[in-house]
Amino acid sequence: MGAGSVVGFDLTSCNIALDLIPVVEGLISKRKRNPFWYVWDDKGSEIFEKIATTSATYTLWKREFTLLQRKCNEIASKTTSPTILVELGSGASSKTRLIIEAMLKQHGSLTFVPVDIAKDTITKVGKELEQNNPGLTVEPFGGLFMDGIRHLSSREENKMLLFLGSSFSNVCMYEQVDMMKEIRAQLTTKDFFLMGLDMDKNPTSLSEAYNNQWVPLHRDNRIYRLNKDFDGNMDKTKFEYVYDFVEKPADGDVPSYVVGYLQSSVTQSVNFRKLGITVDFESGEKIYFSDGPNHSSKWNMYQIHRLAERSGFAVNDYWTNEASDYCLVCFVPV
Ligand SMILES: C[S@@+](CC[C@H](N)C(=O)[O-])C[C@H]1O[C@@H](n2cnc3c(N)ncnc32)[C@H](O)[C@@H]1O
Repeated sequence: MGAGSVVGFDLTSCNIALDLIPVVEGLISKRKRNPFWYVWDDKGSEIFEKIATTSATYTLWKREFTLLQRKCNEIASKTTSPTILVELGSGASSKTRLIIEAMLKQHGSLTFVPVDIAKDTITKVGKELEQNNPGLTVEPFGGLFMDGIRHLSSREENKMLLFLGSSFSNVCMYEQVDMMKEIRAQLTTKDFFLMGLDMDKNPTSLSEAYNNQWVPLHRDNRIYRLNKDFDGNMDKTKFEYVYDFVEKPADGDVPSYVVGYLQSSVTQSVNFRKLGITVDFESGEKIYFSDGPNHSSKWNMYQIHRLAERSGFAVNDYWTNEASDYCLVCFVPV
């Protein structure tokens, strides 16, 4: 199958950007789905930041912030100068500021490369960070995670790579190890890879964390984007935001996970005029938030060690909060 086409459907006449092809594939497939990155644009990033920093029940942001406050100097002290700080899925970089400040205190100057599809957001955030932090140079990269990493492959400085907010857990679970291997291939043994991961927890706190507060992001922004990108007439009031929790999958290497989807509340047809197609939904039919089963994986320490072993990393250090329900893990390439 060449670029510009999906099975049984010709996209060449639709004037669709190549990066939207997986979205079209997901819409017309038997198991309807969006790639996990689709909901993330500048608007999505703004909605996320507001909910994540203020919610009483989605406490991931606060738990990671508190851990970083305690550990940022220790993390910074692992690095030597010059080290480029790279952040995948940086968004508002509202926790990263702690590491930036700690590294600047240590080294005096620093280059920070935020990588995010929300390009306008990271450009604006980068300017603010530069204004507030003398000695800091920000080089935003607007694009997908792996494109950002490849973009940096020719840089000779050491790297401290950050992947915060448990965003790695949103990567399709069948692709997580391959993504880690690809990242490993772009790093050297002098680099560090700090990842924040949400740990396994009881279903009640998960149901509170993933409740309807996420409708503006996962239903409204998703449907807004689909209508905008493909000139659609999808009616958000005819879809419900739903999540399920799958605890302890049979394969012990695989973390528990939250599944997220929109569910059609009626039998309906949606026209996407730009694509020249009608997508039919039966009542109760789902459109998943990811190509894989997981919307968000929830880890234990065994699984984190296995992830490292299977992808060419070792766990150099890790820190959990008092409740042991959030982990910052520092991987090093082996
Ligand atoms: C859950 S938010 C986390 C934001 C921030 N790192 C934090 O910890 O609060 C995920 C961020 O990753 C970005 N993002 C999601 N998928 C992406 C992808 N495949 N490539 C690049 N950026 C992506 C989104 O735009 C968003 O800013």
